[in-house]
Amino acid sequence: MSDTHTQNVKKSRDVILGRIGTLKPKIAIILGSGLGGLAERVENAVTIPYVDLPGFPVLTIAGHAGILIAGKLSGVDTLVFKGRKHFYETHDTAPLKTMIRVIKAMGVETLFLSNAAGSLRPHIKVGEMMMITDHINCMGFNPLVGPNDDAFGSRFPPMTEAWDHELRQKLKETAQKKGIPLHKGVYIAFRGPSFETPAEIRMAQGMGGDAIGMSSVPECLIARHCDLKIVGCSCITNMGAGLSDEKISHEHTLENAAHAAVNFEKLVMEALPILS
Ligand code: HPA
Repeated sequence: MSDTHTQNVKKSRDVILGRIGTLKPKIAIILGSGLGGLAERVENAVTIPYVDLPGFPVLTIAGHAGILIAGKLSGVDTLVFKGRKHFYETHDTAPLKTMIRVIKAMGVETLFLSNAAGSLRPHIKVGEMMMITDHINCMGFNPLVGPNDDAFGSRFPPMTEAWDHELRQKLKETAQKKGIPLHKGVYIAFRGPSFETPAEIRMAQGMGGDAIGMSSVPECLIARHCDLKIVGCSCITNMGAGLSDEKISHEHTLENAAHAAVNFEKLVMEALPILS
């Protein structure tokens, strides 16, 4: 990895540390498409646009603002990242690496990943949530390809427990205690930007996927490489192509994500003090 990348990680970390005062976040959340509402719940919020952070992603897609909000969520010091670059927009993995490695460099231990996804199972319905137990990378690439930077992590990071078992247990218990419906299952990531064909959806089902989307797997791979613990969930915005009569579109995704967001916000607020 280039010196520029390492410098960017240090510089961005220092910008954030210089602006967040006495906050000592141990948990960070990356918000998926249409799930940005959680950012408004941050108290004593310090907002830092990604453009102020060297090496951070420059965002182009509607519904994906590029800001970091630091503050207290449910009384917990938290970093909330609203907006991330998808790999259907770019071949460049460096900005996402910078973002995740800055999180690690800040002393954060746990990263909560969220996304909007299509359901591959009839019992997982639109507007509901699925805790991610594991993932399948069907994106045709891995962001860790290229020279390894041993300062961040090892050449061959294991993914046996990519999605942390203990944190999953805690998230599940929180949902049960608070009566928040939460399925569990495997997230399968395709690169996009086209949505899948019905044949691809059948393939994804056959491969063992329970929800399908275009994100979170690169984030997880980079984060596990630098030993951040991962927990997360998908908000179901549609049934996979061919599984229902509804039309699939980005607008539809954002609209339905807003419905799922109500329970998503509740779950995160309840779980934060337990996960961090
Ligand atoms: N496929 C891929 N990505 C998605 C979907 C989908 O059906 N819904 C939301 N993001």
